[in-house]
Parts: sequence; C-alpha cells; structure tokens
Amino acid sequence: MISTAPEIRSKMKPDIRDTLLTPRFWTTDFQELELLDTSVQEPAIKAVIQEFIADYNRKHFVRDDRFDHSFEKLSEEERKLFLAFLERSCTSEFSGFLLYKEASLRLRKNNPLLAEGFKYLSRDEARHAGFINRAMADSGLSLDLPHLTKFRKYTLIKPKFLFYATYLSEKIGYWKYILIFQHLEDSPEFIIHPLFNYFDNWCQDESRHGDFMGLVIKSQADWLNGTISRLQIRLFLLLFVLTTYFSGQKSSDFYNMIGMDVKEFDLSVLKKTNKEASKVFPIYLDLEHPQFVMLLDACVTNNKKLRSKKKLIGKLPFYILNCFNILRMYFIPIKESLPTGTVC
Ligand SMILES: [Fe+2]
Ligand SMILES: [Fe+2]
Repeated sequence: MISTAPEIRSKMKPDIRDTLLTPRFWTTDFQELELLDTSVQEPAIKAVIQEFIADYNRKHFVRDDRFDHSFEKLSEEERKLFLAFLERSCTSEFSGFLLYKEASLRLRKNNPLLAEGFKYLSRDEARHAGFINRAMADSGLSLDLPHLTKFRKYTLIKPKFLFYATYLSEKIGYWKYILIFQHLEDSPEFIIHPLFNYFDNWCQDESRHGDFMGLVIKSQADWLNGTISRLQIRLFLLLFVLTTYFSGQKSSDFYNMIGMDVKEFDLSVLKKTNKEASKVFPIYLDLEHPQFVMLLDACVTNNKKLRSKKKLIGKLPFYILNCFNILRMYFIPIKESLPTGTVC
C-alpha cells in the first residue's frame, strides 16, 4: 500500500483488510429490507428523494486548471501522507457505492421507494470515489477499483444495524468534510491540493445521505424503542466514537500537515455528530463527561503499546485494559434526547 510500498505502480490494489470496528464492506438481509414499511416517514423520505433528483452537485465535481501539476509542489512526505488520505477516502466512498448500488437493485421490485433513494446515494458515492481516484491518478497512482469489486469481503449485518452504521458514517463524513473545509478557508496556506476546495458542497451530499438513513430509522419504532434497541444504539454510538478516534490518531501526521490537531478535530466531529444523532436516536453519549476523553486517550496509549508487542502474552494485559476502559465508557450515564421536533 502507499504507506508501506514506496515503489511506483500505475494501479494499486486497495487495502481490503477489515477489523472488528471498521468493516469496509457491508451487506445485509435484503429480503428483510424489502419488507420494511417506511410509510410513517414516506412524505419526508420523498422530500429527500426530490433533493436527490434536483442533484445540486451535478456540476460541482468538475476538474479545473488547479489540478494540473498538483502533485509536483508536494514533498515526498507530503505526497505519501496525502495519497494515504486519498486512498482511505476513495475506499470508503467506493464501499458506499457498492452497498447502495446493490440495495437499489435488490429492492427495485418490492420496495421501490427505498430502491430509488439508494439509487441516488450510489450515484453520488460513485461520483465522489471517481473524483478522488482521478485526483490520485495525477500522481501516477490510482486505486484498482475493479480489483476491489472482485475481491471485496462482505460483513453481513442486520438491516437495523446497517442503517445505524450508515447513518452515523454519513454524518461523520459530513462533519469531517465541512470542518476541514472551514479550517482551510481560515488558513488557506495549508491548502496543499485543489481537492480540498470541493469539500463544501461535497459534504452536503453526505448530509443528505445521512438524512435519508435517519428517516428510515425513524420510520421503525422498534429500532428506536425498548431496552434492547437502546442498548444497541448506545453500543453503535460508542463503536463509532472509538473507530473515529483510533483511526484519526493513526493519521495524525496528515492532519498536522494541513495545520490541524487531530485530537481536537476528531472530538469536534464526534461531538457534532453525537448531538445531531440525538435528533434520530432517543439517546446520545455524554461526550462532555470528564472521564470520556481520558478513557479514549488511555485506549490510544494502550494501542501504541499493543503494537510494540509481538507475542499474545505481551499483548494480553493491554487487551484487558482496553476492554475495561471501553466498558467504563459504555456505562457512563447516557443522555436522553429531546422529543422529536424540539430544537436542540
Ligand atoms: Fe460520499
Ligand atoms: Fe455518502
């Protein structure tokens, strides 16, 4: 991969390793999804679909002269970090495309409303992935997306969890793009590549995708209410905090390069996403709790120590400590969301 294999190749095989917290490719029980009755939210879902049809970003992803020789000004280190960022982003956009495309095809007959929504989501994600991959190609490298399509490994999850996960990842994507854009607007000296100039309208696509997912979740009372669902929502909220925070720490050099402090950035993304999620979920995490960040940082420290150990016996104490820290975070008292329709 970019970070470990310095030789130049015209096509790179994307890194498709999965971890427990970050399965890159999801699939679900489409038969169960076909039977989903979203009628209570149908007018709102149709309104979002109308926005998809309007396709506000149809002319947004057009390359201009700024892309010419865009990699030539970068040092070797900057190029490596930026390409790694592009690879992560492109893989994530492309995995969204594959999932949404499959959903749109599988639901076409028996759940046309959801199928239509997914069709536009897949259109947008294909556009995003293609735009990033084209930017990568300027460097002489691009992701081998057909290879990714052929060799992808699926993680099967229930429709309910698929919607929890995609809702949160779309909203996290929205906040990441907009916060990077706003930072670079204030500090243009850190704009190392023209791609960053596209993040403003781009993020609106991700927000609309999240809105679509959120409406489907809100149409399913049993996905939101009851002890089991509340515990599951709590778990998903925490998993997304952990995934975002841990992966951000691994990319801190990239964020430093564009003048951002990754810890500050990730906490800001997570707090904004958590607050926004309270408009869909009946509960949200207390990220302001004095122990939350302390426990997150303790896990990051343990992860660094874990990586330095070769044998399982050496890793074991850190695994145990991390499990204990994560349990402590899980049991930090949860916040109750305001009733739907109330302004936060
Ligand atoms: Fe996207
Ligand atoms: Fe998206």
